[in-house]
Amino acid sequence: MTKVKIGIVGSRFQADCIAASVKAMPEEMEVVAVASPTKGNAEEFARRHGIPSFYSDYREMLRNPEVEMISITAPNNLHAQITIDAAKAGKHVVCEKPLCVTLEEADAMIEACEKAGVLLLYAEELFFAPKYVKAKQMADEGAFGKIHLVKQGEKHSGPHSDWFWDVKKSGGGALMDLGCHGIAFCWWFLGKQKVKSVYSHVGNLHHRDRTEGDDEAITIIEFENGAIGMVESSWNRPGGMDDSIEVFGEKGQTYADMLMGNALPTYSEVGFGYAVEKASSTKGWTYPVFEEHWNYGFPQEMRHFARCVRGKETPISDGETGRVVQEVLYAAYASAGLGRKITFPFRPKGIARPIDLWKKPELAKAAL
Ligand SMILES: NC(=O)c1ccc[n+]([C@@H]2O[C@H](COP(=O)([O-])OP(=O)(O)OC[C@H]3O[C@@H](n4cnc5c(N)ncnc54)[C@H](O)[C@@H]3O)[C@@H](O)[C@H]2O)c1
Repeated sequence: MTKVKIGIVGSRFQADCIAASVKAMPEEMEVVAVASPTKGNAEEFARRHGIPSFYSDYREMLRNPEVEMISITAPNNLHAQITIDAAKAGKHVVCEKPLCVTLEEADAMIEACEKAGVLLLYAEELFFAPKYVKAKQMADEGAFGKIHLVKQGEKHSGPHSDWFWDVKKSGGGALMDLGCHGIAFCWWFLGKQKVKSVYSHVGNLHHRDRTEGDDEAITIIEFENGAIGMVESSWNRPGGMDDSIEVFGEKGQTYADMLMGNALPTYSEVGFGYAVEKASSTKGWTYPVFEEHWNYGFPQEMRHFARCVRGKETPISDGETGRVVQEVLYAAYASAGLGRKITFPFRPKGIARPIDLWKKPELAKAAL
């Protein structure tokens, strides 16, 4: 079968990750086009990654008949429109996390892709991260007995681009940006159980000068079988990315740190090029990571999506996954706003951004 031909929307941080990840799986897929609005960026990205076509408007790229699937690596507030336009053009969609900003957008994205008969694939790479996959395999084998608690934390010193800090574009802060991973992870790990309730404490502890958004969040998700997911999300952790999980059952437990153990304890008085995502320095003691994309699961995720397009695999992360995450994000912000647990179903309508449910608790109250 031929390789799946991919067009990337966006040309910066996550676009680089996707292009490199696709290149790591050359037997399944290739990037044939890139679109990015800032003059010269798509061209430069195409040259750097050896991509034949580049565009400044993604809608033009959607008219390229060669492109079968797009990967959306644009800011959150653009995910819905790009997905709907791509579906209308008959392209399969890989959408970066979070799926979108509002629940209405999530519905519209799912509907547009269903109507067009294209796949909507939700890019949650933690479902493919080798250490986390191993933990899930052991759990599914029964290694820990009945699991009662799954924790995931993602923490760093804050995002690299301004739009993440602007809640009009991002929809929320650290909870939206990083918590979406942990929510998806706990839900997936526990067998995609229904969510029963959500409790969250959210704050802006160190970045009031930079954002109206939250920079710290602790979220507790209760699932229908009684198991608990706990998600820690922080933009207040200097020293580089921290991503880890803990799993506890009646017969055992496991701990996995995504990056430590895949890093070299290193000391350098002069520094060097790159240690790990978001590390501000390479001088002194550092932990440069190797095979970074592979450890996160990005190439494996893209391979899975390409195989789904060819009908060889069934999506394990799709629009529905993204919508579940979005529902929990809404409930988490509402919980923080009201200072109480939110029980499901909780589906407030007409909320412009999830974070509004924290900032304006009256919106959350009206939806109870
Ligand atoms: N899975 C992960 O771990 C992960 C990591 C980083 C980012 N992301 C997600 O990927 C998305 C992009 O984040 P990023 O870090 O790459 O941001 P970024 O700021 O580095 O890049 C954003 C890109 O979007 C482009 N863009 C802006 N407006 C556009 C438009 N109208 N049409 C097409 N492109 C447009 C910008 O030009 C830029 O190239 C976000 O949704 C983010 O949450 C996911």
